[in-house]
Amino acid sequence: MLWDATDYDARFSFVTAYGASLLDLLDPQPGERVLDLGCGTGHQAGELARRGVAVVGVDADPAMLEVARREHPAVRFVQADGQDASALREAADGPVDAVLSNAALHWMPDQDGAVGAVAGILRPGGRLVAELGGAGNVARLTAAVRAARADVGLDPDVPTSWTFPTAGEMAARLERHGLRVELLQTFDRPTPLRTTAAGWVRMFGSALLDGVTDAEGFASAVDTRARGLGLADGPGTETWWADYVRLRVMARRPG
Ligand code: BEZ
Repeated sequence: MLWDATDYDARFSFVTAYGASLLDLLDPQPGERVLDLGCGTGHQAGELARRGVAVVGVDADPAMLEVARREHPAVRFVQADGQDASALREAADGPVDAVLSNAALHWMPDQDGAVGAVAGILRPGGRLVAELGGAGNVARLTAAVRAARADVGLDPDVPTSWTFPTAGEMAARLERHGLRVELLQTFDRPTPLRTTAAGWVRMFGSALLDGVTDAEGFASAVDTRARGLGLADGPGTETWWADYVRLRVMARRPG
């Protein structure tokens, strides 16, 4: 999927804002080597660099990286697929103390490949600190879109581009690649949006728009369904919500 990096920063900056607490968990030290996997527009990597960390930002999306390079010229950014072990090794350019990943792993269908690639670049004692959508993430948003598809005569059962694992699946995956799980948390994070449910789908759910011809009519059908599922406060001064479920991970390569 290709991203609209400007709209992403303007209306979905909460992704970076929530990432601040992930940085606390990472507790980066000056001089450490850290790879930011799925760095997007590079805000987190920029913050790490400001703290004296030797950081490389990795993302598969060229539009995101273009913004990242413009806004954080002192940081090295590399375009690479995080599921590809040799590409990630090349991007890391040597073992790293830590891999940080915020809201990116759920875009990688081969999560086993991604975790294996991460394990392959961590130094002994190095850590992975990650947050991603967990099982049940955006269940109501997705249900609203599927219902709207049925409303306009489209197949509701189109696949999405996301993989939202359970804590158990993630633990098994980490352990399979020799990482020791130090923290695994699942929690709800209902998140207010600066757009409607349909606006969220336009940004993140293009697979769910397959076959849609009347974009405006469909957006209105999505919002009607989402409102019915409790994703909007109001009417009047309206706030729309994403029903996010987070899976937060810290795992370490034994030293
Ligand atoms: C998430 O951060 O949970 C997410 C974002 C976009 C699409 C799906 C999930």
